[in-house]
Amino acid sequence: MFDVSKIRSEFPILAQKIYGKNLIYLDSGATTQKPVSVLNKIQSFYTEFNSNIHRGVHYLSNKATEEYEGARETIKQFLNAETKEEIIFTSGTTDSINLVAFSFGETLVNEGDEIIVGETEHHSNIVPWQMLCERKKATLKVLPANINGELNILEYKKLLSEKTKLVAVAHVSNSIGIINPIKMIIDEAHKFGAKVLIDGAQAVQHLAVDVTGLNCDFYVFSGHKIYAETGIGVLYGKKKLLETLKPYKGGGDMIKSVSFEKTEYAELPFKFEAGTSNYVGAVSISEAIKFIRKIGLEQINSYETELIKYTEAKLSEIPGLQIIGNSEHKTSAVSFLLSGIHPYDIGMILDKLGIAVRTGTHCAEPAMKLFGIQGTVRASFAIYNTKEEIDQLYEGLLRIKKMFD
Ligand code: ALA
Repeated sequence: MFDVSKIRSEFPILAQKIYGKNLIYLDSGATTQKPVSVLNKIQSFYTEFNSNIHRGVHYLSNKATEEYEGARETIKQFLNAETKEEIIFTSGTTDSINLVAFSFGETLVNEGDEIIVGETEHHSNIVPWQMLCERKKATLKVLPANINGELNILEYKKLLSEKTKLVAVAHVSNSIGIINPIKMIIDEAHKFGAKVLIDGAQAVQHLAVDVTGLNCDFYVFSGHKIYAETGIGVLYGKKKLLETLKPYKGGGDMIKSVSFEKTEYAELPFKFEAGTSNYVGAVSISEAIKFIRKIGLEQINSYETELIKYTEAKLSEIPGLQIIGNSEHKTSAVSFLLSGIHPYDIGMILDKLGIAVRTGTHCAEPAMKLFGIQGTVRASFAIYNTKEEIDQLYEGLLRIKKMFD
């Protein structure tokens, strides 16, 4: 096992005190903190070779382009994609999903077609599909979950038909941390010729992902949740499929030639990268992947799984505490309620103890409706968290309970 204190020392922000208390950061599901290697890379990019990519013949532009395209190669390997052209840079998971909803929708979805989304999805994997269905007079179907938050595969099989054009589900639910059975979901959809988009925003930093082995059609994630910068994200799409799709945004860098009579679009991946990309962000993802590789995703996953199990066992000792989202297959987050105490009150008091958690619906209102609740308190983890921090959370919750009792 790796040395967690050494890893923590690579995250300068974790050393600070909040209201005089040691910071306990349990909100990595919202965004992860950044290691010095990533911070240094961003700084050195700006101080040594900043220049716009794909534009210049000069040294700096070539150097910046090399770094950017190198990042694409690193991500291709990280996801085990077949080719580099399958990696599109976007501004984040939401942008990636909107790109697919527009480009796939405009090209391949017609009136009467159906799109299926999971009941526990983040709003960003619901709303773009609703907008598409409205535009195209298609129908949005919901893959229901059981009361534990696990997707109901029997019901899923009943929903699939020749009308299904696309299925969109999260690899890992952001609000409750359940790992969905995506391989099965992909294979079942393909039996009907439907395509599958996997939202990996809460997965890539915790689990090894092999898009070729999964055989998914699209896989998306954000930089800021994987120890990299914000404002950058990735869309993986199968090359043959991406080639058939209309571009999402028009502008510079996505064209082969432009005239007032006719514009010809560039080849992949540039067809989907109009305007100046967040090239520094892209390079920061590549550096973050190096940080992850240094530890190894297998080690990360086994450590974080241990942390989740420890948290669930410890918090369950508190009378009146209810864990929302119960499954054997979880990573990254524990959502809970404390009987009679509003999640916001819990979040605010924990904050005064230096403990950062997220409270509310977690941009997953349909999931909260399923559980019949207004929201939860969510503790979400990354590789720098420790059991001692969970003990502090436990103590904090006991304190809050006493105050309210
Ligand atoms: N999607 C992020 C979260 O789950 C913001 O907190």
